[in-house]
Amino acid sequence: MQVDMKKMAGERAAQYVKDGMIVGLGTGSTAYHMVNAVGQMVKNGLSIRAIPTSSATEAQARELGIPLLTIDELDHVDLAIDGVDEIDPQFNAIKGGGGALYREKVVASLAKEVIWIMDESKLVDKIGAFHLPVEIAQYGAKQAMARMAAFGWNPVLRIKNGETFVTDNGNFIADLHLGAGFNIEQVYGRLSGMLGVLEHGLFLNMCNRMIVGCASGEVRIIENPSK
Ligand code: A5P
Repeated sequence: MQVDMKKMAGERAAQYVKDGMIVGLGTGSTAYHMVNAVGQMVKNGLSIRAIPTSSATEAQARELGIPLLTIDELDHVDLAIDGVDEIDPQFNAIKGGGGALYREKVVASLAKEVIWIMDESKLVDKIGAFHLPVEIAQYGAKQAMARMAAFGWNPVLRIKNGETFVTDNGNFIADLHLGAGFNIEQVYGRLSGMLGVLEHGLFLNMCNRMIVGCASGEVRIIENPSK
């Protein structure tokens, strides 16, 4: 039997959403299932307010009738639930495969509790085989790319449907090809504050737990002992 690992993880995570919460709604194909499940719970009487992490999730949540807040209307988030592209045993994650990393990081940073949801293919020993997305300003993008190339990071400007991809914030994405086992702290330090960089997709030890849908049909819940 074919199991939908993303759906299992998303639906399980929705069970952590409780009445009265301000909930961060993630972006991507796994978060999509979680948002659908939360929408169903709202239809059944759950009272929450939510902050979406992208225009795509915002549209989905509106369609489902989930009451939404804007980022300026809140000072905290009770629970943020989102997908990841890769995560290692130390809970270091790469996010932003869908290009929503900035809003995802803003929302997760405000959250008292963070849950990352995924299928088991996202669990890796060392992150970096997946490209690391970096959101850069359009103005001076070529120079920002050159700065990253100078560190040997192999940046590639993201193209979608034949056009340069533009984020919800009006910026470009540079995807860095670092390779598994790159020096996480060094890259994090160099990217933070680099001219032209708004934010990057390294989310280091931010989650309280991972919820992993497995091909066996099992849903693994991995608690972060350091949280
Ligand atoms: C969106 O920008 C991303 O951070 C996603 O959360 C991440 O790419 C995981 O996406 P999937 O759940 O679609 O694999």
